[in-house]
Amino acid sequence: MQGIGVFDSGFGGLTILESLQESMPEHDFMYLGDNARTPYGDKSFEQVNQYTKEAIDWLFEQGCPLVILACNTASALALRNIQQIHLKLNHGAKKRVLGVVRPTTEIIGNYSKTNKIGLLGTPATVESNSYGIEVKKFFPQVSLYQEACPFWVPMIEEHTYEDASSKIQIQKNCEALLKKNKDIDTILLACTHYPILLPIIEKIVPKEIRIVTQGDIVAKSLLEYLHRHPEMENLISKNKNTVFYTTETDIEKFKEKSTHFYKAISTVRHTNLDLNDT
Ligand code: DGL
Repeated sequence: MQGIGVFDSGFGGLTILESLQESMPEHDFMYLGDNARTPYGDKSFEQVNQYTKEAIDWLFEQGCPLVILACNTASALALRNIQQIHLKLNHGAKKRVLGVVRPTTEIIGNYSKTNKIGLLGTPATVESNSYGIEVKKFFPQVSLYQEACPFWVPMIEEHTYEDASSKIQIQKNCEALLKKNKDIDTILLACTHYPILLPIIEKIVPKEIRIVTQGDIVAKSLLEYLHRHPEMENLISKNKNTVFYTTETDIEKFKEKSTHFYKAISTVRHTNLDLNDT
């Protein structure tokens, strides 16, 4: 199928996929979660680059003309390199990869009145400072305060975030972020896993603070992109199909855990990202 590839290190990209499907109900999608190697947030730049390239190459091999990196960590660490070098060397001009950092930083400044924005993300995303650099390009008046949350993706993937000790950890990170500046009026959840924690975070942070998730932002940006690029839009098949792949060998485990992120998935296939594996 020539669907839109949607890639994440695990389940988080399902929160983006849902918004994409709502905005583009006719389009086909191919979801790939690298659950066997999640989390990416504590991995090196080289590892995230390598894993992301492998995933993209595999999705292209399946027929996807366009891949969305529905993962902040992969977008922050690998996208530029992939767009500027990997695509040109290996895939010619026809294939495209888009991320989630750019669409978010293009508009995030509009949410804040104080120009003080907080960001919660994985250690790799925060250390890369990709958001800090990109936000400054679009909103030079905005100060961005970032807090790395190393335990959040593992607790979400393992579904232990309701435990008392997890909630204490979530509270610690939220409080540490808010301590960085008392005028923070907007918090960006800069990890596609984090919307799952929204009900818990909303109980911790003051009500006046706006919490921003990325699904709708990324969907709107992709729609606009496809409008500007009819040659890409025309390549994407439109049969209302979505197929799911994971690098996890235990398919039933994937199906069960994915229900915390997305509606029930009836068919999931395993891949080891071998390029001869169809
Ligand atoms: N969903 C990925 C993100 O948006 C999680 C990264 C990880 O695997 O640590 O950053």
